[in-house]
Amino acid sequence: MIKGCDLMIPGPIPVENDVLLEMASPVVAHYGGEWARVYEETVELAKKIFRTKNQLFIWVGSGHAGIDAAMGSLLEPGDEILVPASGHFGIRLGEIAGSWGANVRSLSVAPGEVIQPEAVERELAAHPGIKVVGLVHHETATGLANPLKEIAQVVKRAGALLVVDAVSSLGGLELDVDGWGIDICVSASQKCLEAPPGLVLVSVSDAAWEAMKGRTSAIPGWYLNLLRWKEFADRFPDHQPYFITMAVNNVLALRRSMQLVLNEGLEARVARHRAVGLAFRRGLQAMGLAPVGDEHYASGIVSVFYVPEGHSSREIVEFLKEEFGIQVASGLRELAETTVRVGHMGPGARMTRIMPVLFGIEEWLRRKSHRAIAAGASMAGIARE
Ligand SMILES: Cc1ncc(COP(=O)(O)O)c(C=O)c1O
Repeated sequence: MIKGCDLMIPGPIPVENDVLLEMASPVVAHYGGEWARVYEETVELAKKIFRTKNQLFIWVGSGHAGIDAAMGSLLEPGDEILVPASGHFGIRLGEIAGSWGANVRSLSVAPGEVIQPEAVERELAAHPGIKVVGLVHHETATGLANPLKEIAQVVKRAGALLVVDAVSSLGGLELDVDGWGIDICVSASQKCLEAPPGLVLVSVSDAAWEAMKGRTSAIPGWYLNLLRWKEFADRFPDHQPYFITMAVNNVLALRRSMQLVLNEGLEARVARHRAVGLAFRRGLQAMGLAPVGDEHYASGIVSVFYVPEGHSSREIVEFLKEEFGIQVASGLRELAETTVRVGHMGPGARMTRIMPVLFGIEEWLRRKSHRAIAAGASMAGIARE
């Protein structure tokens, strides 16, 4: 067995024992009436968290499989898509759309900023042929949430389809698929849904189905063809509503974890993440460290901060792992060397989990004699919050 450590990266996360135990339950067949009911129950729980009545699928795959499927199923070669990107995962979304031959219009902002609805509105007005807008809800590279609700209103007014990457936000940030009019929403099991990695969740609106059926060319590919997933879900709901071997234990674990999520309540969860994220920010600031971006957009799910000048993110990541047994992550792309990312998702969004991380960072700073910070400065910062 691999010796684990306290995982405080932006997913995957350590999961509750109840969830882990489901992974150890006997392997059962991925078809048949009894299993189909378990799968259906899991889908229904997911719909409550997505807040949708749209058709929803759970498959074997990671979050990117869902983004890939959304793009490949909606976009024909030459179709225009607007991708407002506020970091690594937004840029990825654009790359995925481009790989299907779409004409990608990028709208990017400087690292540490978020996408403003007015900018999306301007782009949509200037390019009325845009068919789809693809947006990352919570940009896990910066720890900042794009104002999705407001952007969705702009997209709906323009009559475009909206695809949302909610891989790191679902279950930790407010998200209302039907209320906000999200056509395809993608998430994954391993982040705020508190289950092991391995499953992707995708919801699809009626308008998105119409767009797929109205294509002039057939959807290329096979596994990632959303119409194929729909066909099997519609034809065989009581036996095997998909055409693959389902990862049955992962589904059992996800069912259990989503029960825990719903037992806590979505509003309470969002408030808990927000409070812990804010406390972490205060702790960083009390040590003289600068969190990335405007506090108003801080997700509460991931905290990202700049390392002091003259140092690299790797130094802090390695120090925390070796001295404290805590794993955090370096930044991504242009923020790779200069920022550190700490995930506090699900069970990680607790004061008892973030305090050792702050203490470790404080200890690193002291050993580097970089700042004359008083012992316990970060804790005092939290207490003031
Ligand atoms: C916002 C966002 N999108 C997409 C992904 C990719 O998900 P996966 O690694 O499950 O494919 C991640 C993973 O960190 C993410 O945070």
